[in-house]
Amino acid sequence: MRKMETKILKVTPSNPEIHVIKIAAEIIKEGGTVAFPTETVYGLGANALDSDAVMKIFIAKNRPADNPLIVHVSSKEEIHFLVEELPEKVELLIENFWPGPLTLILKKSKIVPNETTAGLNTVAIRMPKHEVALALIEQAGVPIAAPSANLAGKPSPTLAEHVKKDLYGRIDAIIDAGPTNIGVESTVIDMTSAVPMLLRPGGITLEQLKNILGKVELHPTVLSEKSLLVEKIPSPGMKHRHYAPNAKLIIIEGKKMEKIMNKVQEIAHEYMKEGKKVGILANNESKFMYNADVIKSAGNRNDFTEIARNLFRLLREFDEENVDVVIAEGISLKGIGLAIMNRLRKAASYNIINVD
Ligand code: TXA
Ligand code: MG
Repeated sequence: MRKMETKILKVTPSNPEIHVIKIAAEIIKEGGTVAFPTETVYGLGANALDSDAVMKIFIAKNRPADNPLIVHVSSKEEIHFLVEELPEKVELLIENFWPGPLTLILKKSKIVPNETTAGLNTVAIRMPKHEVALALIEQAGVPIAAPSANLAGKPSPTLAEHVKKDLYGRIDAIIDAGPTNIGVESTVIDMTSAVPMLLRPGGITLEQLKNILGKVELHPTVLSEKSLLVEKIPSPGMKHRHYAPNAKLIIIEGKKMEKIMNKVQEIAHEYMKEGKKVGILANNESKFMYNADVIKSAGNRNDFTEIARNLFRLLREFDEENVDVVIAEGISLKGIGLAIMNRLRKAASYNIINVD
């Protein structure tokens, strides 16, 4: 694609300078593309109701055209224009979790173009919990379609630097407001099926959803690579390769930390003997016990919030260090652990060793 000039706009995350937000909003109104922070990861935004603008997102990211986008709104009321109907359960979810990292799949209204939903008759909608994202949508005066602001196949960006690395020269502007808070993407839940179906675990946990909804089904691709027929995959994003680091990634899973650590070190030694550059994704306690070329800690072993916040940045850092193999410790599937393990397992192409 033709190289573009990408504006870098710095703002204060909690209280963004309105004159700077207006520059970005003007770009959106004119049909351009702007990367902006949300509470989860950085998104690459364009006017969700303008099919030409939306196409620019697909081109900039190299995103397959059959992978639909999330439409971001700045108020709860905006959802009414975008959907055909609003089931009662959905109103409960909005009351409890918006603004926040919960994306709702609903029947789309006619104003949402097919390009935004990749031809589906449903639309994904969320209201982000980030002052910069909310100010941008409000000033633009239109809902903003935004996938994560990475090149297709790379980990989602949690820093403006990640966006620059992937998309500089390919988009009109990047709003830099520092690191994002949650670090993994929003939870995606399909509210068009009889029983709500979790398509992607994320910032709002399965436990939180069950508290409100009672029954929630877990789509089989959330945790394992089932050989599903492509037509049976409800969220097109699931069939695309995701979050893949350049290095080979292996996950060691199990119940006992000691057993996991022994296996991590054993595999690391095997690769080092072969002359490979080996990285280990450890935690604050275990990192001192290993011997490898590059050792990084995702955080306190029991602090899943911290691990989620660091995960994508660390995957990118391993790539920068040109390691051949990364061996990662698995964690439990409780709370946001489900989202963390879903991303890690995908990044590892389900290359998992279980020590139990
Ligand atoms: O936290 C997030 O969700 C971030 C920030 C920027 O909001 N966005 C994000 O977008 O992660 P993206 O495009 O990387 O992931 C959206 C996921 C994809 O897996 C896509 O297939 C799914 O949502 N999706 C979008 N519309 C859908 C629909 N109508 N039906 C089913 N799945 C849908
Ligand atoms: Mg993405």
